[in-house]
Amino acid sequence: MQDNQLIMTMTAAPASSVTPSSVIPSHVLDRVLVLEMVRVTEAAAIGAAKLIGRGDEKAADAAAVEAMRAALNELAMDGTVVIGEGERDEAPMLFIGEKVGSAQGTGPKIDIALDPLEGTTLTANAGANALAVLACAEEGNLLNAPDVYMDKLAVGPGYPEGIIDLAKSPSDNVRAVAAAKGVAPSEIIVCVLDRARHADLIAELRGLGCGVALITDGDVAGVIAVTNEETNIDMYMGQGGAPEGVLAAAALRCVGGQFNGRLVFRNDDERKRAAKWGITDLNKIYKLEELAKGDCIFAATGVTDGSLLKGVKRHKNGVMTTHSVVMRASSGTVRWVSGEHRVKS
Ligand code: FBP
Repeated sequence: MQDNQLIMTMTAAPASSVTPSSVIPSHVLDRVLVLEMVRVTEAAAIGAAKLIGRGDEKAADAAAVEAMRAALNELAMDGTVVIGEGERDEAPMLFIGEKVGSAQGTGPKIDIALDPLEGTTLTANAGANALAVLACAEEGNLLNAPDVYMDKLAVGPGYPEGIIDLAKSPSDNVRAVAAAKGVAPSEIIVCVLDRARHADLIAELRGLGCGVALITDGDVAGVIAVTNEETNIDMYMGQGGAPEGVLAAAALRCVGGQFNGRLVFRNDDERKRAAKWGITDLNKIYKLEELAKGDCIFAATGVTDGSLLKGVKRHKNGVMTTHSVVMRASSGTVRWVSGEHRVKS
């Protein structure tokens, strides 16, 4: 695959929740790695793109996984997948614990959280907001979250630290954010996954007069939407995948905003898995820095058009265009990357 990339860079204003770059040691996450991570998410998105709208979630996911794995293995690092496609016996590739990168034992030790196709159903149905996504950090800096649900609560940048609190009710959180924004609670718009388990939450929010932006899938994009005023979304609430929670937290570490997450263990099997992961406090509320510490990089490429990124476009003669974003916590730099790829079939 040959590619030409057009890169636009902006540095996000330091947000209260982002640690200043001067205190984040950044020797391991080499700057070069930042742009290399875009190649990885681009490869996964292009891999999945040929299966958009084909009704086959598994095939789309497999294509993205295969392409992401090949791209990761070209990078000169000693990488370990800490959030991936599942445990070794349930995922043939990009399983948790899998080593990736071409410099095992010699290169920088990097932990990687990845979701080669965030929104498998969206892709199969040609719905909006499917992404190829990853986050990476120095070894030990990403929460190794088991594949269970997570209660999530997020708000964008510019609010006083601690404005949201998962221990409080949705109404209390909306009132706090509305007061800080200087509007009535009924002016607040909350993004929520459209699931039966959220019926009470949605009723409570509508009872306050809030706007509820329902999404069918893809809560990484849903959480990140709170950081972009263009979306009109003020807050994210509800239960989704814990791995997606860590990925979204890594993005918020880079661009600002606040996030609370609480793992949800629904049965004994899931509680046993918590023990295996060394999690003893089952009700702990994790803040951003407990999910993604120190310096970290977040990269995403659109598979289908969405609120964050345009999807992969297929042009004549095998030309494909991609749209990606890559961000780094230590600098707060956000790069929007357009790629033009000549893909050999
Ligand atoms: P997949 O890409 O694995 O299908 O995940 C999509 C997703 O919508 C996530 O964004 C979200 O965290 C999770 O599924 C919600 O899970 P569920 O569909 O079980 O409610």
